[in-house]
Amino acid sequence: MPPVVSTETSESPLTLDVRGDFPILARTFAGHPLVYLDTAATSQKPARVVQAMSEHLLEHNANVHRGVYELALEADSAYDGARARIAAFTGVSRPSPDEAAERLTTIFTKNVTEAINLVAFAWGRQNVGAGDAVLSTQMEHHANIVPWQVLCRERGAELRYLEVDERGELSQQQLDAELARGDVKLVAFTHVSNVLGTINAVAEMTARIRAADAVSVVDGAQAVPHMPVDVVSIGADFYGWTGHKALGPTGIGVLHGRTSLLERMEPFLTGGDMIASVDFHSATWNELPWKFEAGTPPIAEAVGLGAAVDYLQQLEMPRVRAHERALTAYMLERLPEVPGLRMVGPLDADRRGGLVSFTIDGMHPHDIAELAGRAGVCIRAGHHCAQPLMRRLGVGATARASVGIYNEPADVDALVTALQAGRKIFA
Ligand SMILES: Cc1ncc(COP(=O)(O)O)c(C=O)c1O
Repeated sequence: MPPVVSTETSESPLTLDVRGDFPILARTFAGHPLVYLDTAATSQKPARVVQAMSEHLLEHNANVHRGVYELALEADSAYDGARARIAAFTGVSRPSPDEAAERLTTIFTKNVTEAINLVAFAWGRQNVGAGDAVLSTQMEHHANIVPWQVLCRERGAELRYLEVDERGELSQQQLDAELARGDVKLVAFTHVSNVLGTINAVAEMTARIRAADAVSVVDGAQAVPHMPVDVVSIGADFYGWTGHKALGPTGIGVLHGRTSLLERMEPFLTGGDMIASVDFHSATWNELPWKFEAGTPPIAEAVGLGAAVDYLQQLEMPRVRAHERALTAYMLERLPEVPGLRMVGPLDADRRGGLVSFTIDGMHPHDIAELAGRAGVCIRAGHHCAQPLMRRLGVGATARASVGIYNEPADVDALVTALQAGRKIFA
């Protein structure tokens, strides 16, 4: 059954009606229906993703790139077919309108954390040295900070950060000033912040970075599942994202990388499948993308992610964005009704992805999340793997509500009711 896509009406700006595709939403907790507002941590899965994976495992399972029998060829085509569809979903297989633009290669990783580590290890070790600088930003997830810390410490390079301003935004002027120093080799930044929700001006930033002869690494974990993302137009040298936040399974991530850079890089992990030939004392490397996919890859997971992007594509990403933008605007409107609640990040739904982080005076974020949980409302509390940003914001932690295609305004209402009830307990 194709997902239901309704036409936008004046009564409801919501464009999607897909809750029936997500069996988990029928669950109840202590008599309360599940209200899942933690999609930024991981998305729920439509039944067809699980079915695609189980059908693969039950009917087409074999290892890939090894067998010559028909079953193995089916597995090969399931795995590499998923790669092709995932690349097309993010615009990577589309011929570039820009003659000078180089090709991108799509590599499967375990998650976006591994995708960023791959670049830090394999590109960073070869290209960053003493006297060089790596630039990150104050709004990054630890996955886009710690690999650069380790690289810079090992190579004697300096790690600097673009600041987050009072509105939760980065400054292009500061980026220009940093690049003008002439020592920046690589700039790593997020497409959408997992705490502030800020949507960064990625294409503008990658153009400036490229003009300064530096390499860009974009963390697309909170962007690809929620809005149209065309990696070719964005112009990043490396763009990573993670399957489990994009309706797919855990255990699979994606790195789109500029082919010419990947060709010059040494492997990240070594072993089976990533080699062309091996002698007792030496080895040569396989072609892309396999040079960066050592060992048996996540085959069923690739099939699941392939099914997830097929599903999203059927829904149409502009509609996905419109749906989630409307819910975000509704959250921004309703959350301030809770006494003492302060939101962080841009206050304009056009400037942010589908998540809102907040604090409530007199309540610890963990208490907020626990009380909400008792009403069946799932939100996240903590530092969201962004401790430096928490320090920048002057808070130890926040609560965070994040939406997906399966949410509806009633979920936001349930959150506000739960927060108001929790506020009364603490008052
Ligand atoms: C912006 C951002 N980057 C990176 C990650 C890490 O994702 P994963 O754990 O799937 O590698 C997350 C997950 O929370 C995220 O929100």
